[in-house]
Amino acid sequence: MKIAIIGAGNVGKALARSSIRAGHQVTLSAASPESAADAAKATGAHAAKNNVEAVDGADLVIIAVPYDKLGEVFRGLGSSVDDKVVVDATNHINAQNPGEVLGAASNAEEIQKRHPKVLVVKAFNYAFASRMFEPTVDGLRLDGFVAGDDQAAKDKALEFVESIGFRPIDAGPLVMARVLEGMALLNVTLQIRHGWPRQNGWKLVGPPSD
Ligand SMILES: NC(=O)c1ccc[n+]([C@@H]2O[C@H](COP(=O)([O-])OP(=O)(O)OC[C@H]3O[C@@H](n4cnc5c(N)ncnc54)[C@H](OP(=O)(O)O)[C@@H]3O)[C@@H](O)[C@H]2O)c1
Repeated sequence: MKIAIIGAGNVGKALARSSIRAGHQVTLSAASPESAADAAKATGAHAAKNNVEAVDGADLVIIAVPYDKLGEVFRGLGSSVDDKVVVDATNHINAQNPGEVLGAASNAEEIQKRHPKVLVVKAFNYAFASRMFEPTVDGLRLDGFVAGDDQAAKDKALEFVESIGFRPIDAGPLVMARVLEGMALLNVTLQIRHGWPRQNGWKLVGPPSD
């Protein structure tokens, strides 16, 4: 697949590396073209000068920017992502006041509400960047949940999730992004509370046991 990744930080680079390992063609963009170029050099991806250039011709677009940049990213993308599968990997983490996050709609639903022609799915946000490159723990594939309202878009995202090493799991409609974002909030706050090394990933055990 042709993958566009918007955001070239921890998540953008980890997903670029695992995508390229899986045989996908990756184009990265960032707030600054220099940052995109550095990340592309480090990962083997192509660098785009801006977000619109990055998504041109992409089969799947991954959004890996801080949640408070989502507005400017989508305003800039305009109609270039209409009818495209857009994977929202963002989180809004407030470790001091988690209720602020849990009481709100998900980032993914907000994107979908403001941009109804975009085929929004939620995935990857529940995994640490390090696990996006290495999604196997003790021989078991971590679960790669995907939530979304458009089944064809979700199927494409599930295919991609599996190709980079996760066990693909259809998590239901886009409203389930609230749960996936809650899982990220729980995982991050557990790491902080207990001083864990940010390596845990989500895995439902029991049948089917792959
Ligand atoms: N870190 C994790 O383990 C993890 C795991 C799951 C989900 N997440 C979520 O994923 C998102 C990214 O996290 P991260 O750790 O990768 O953040 P990060 O390392 O801070 O990287 C953020 C990237 O977003 C880019 N960016 C900012 N504004 C942009 C714009 N207008 N257009 C294009 N790119 C823009 C930045 O560009 P520049 O490089 O030019 O500044 C940077 O490359 C966040 O929402 C985070 O909550 C993180």
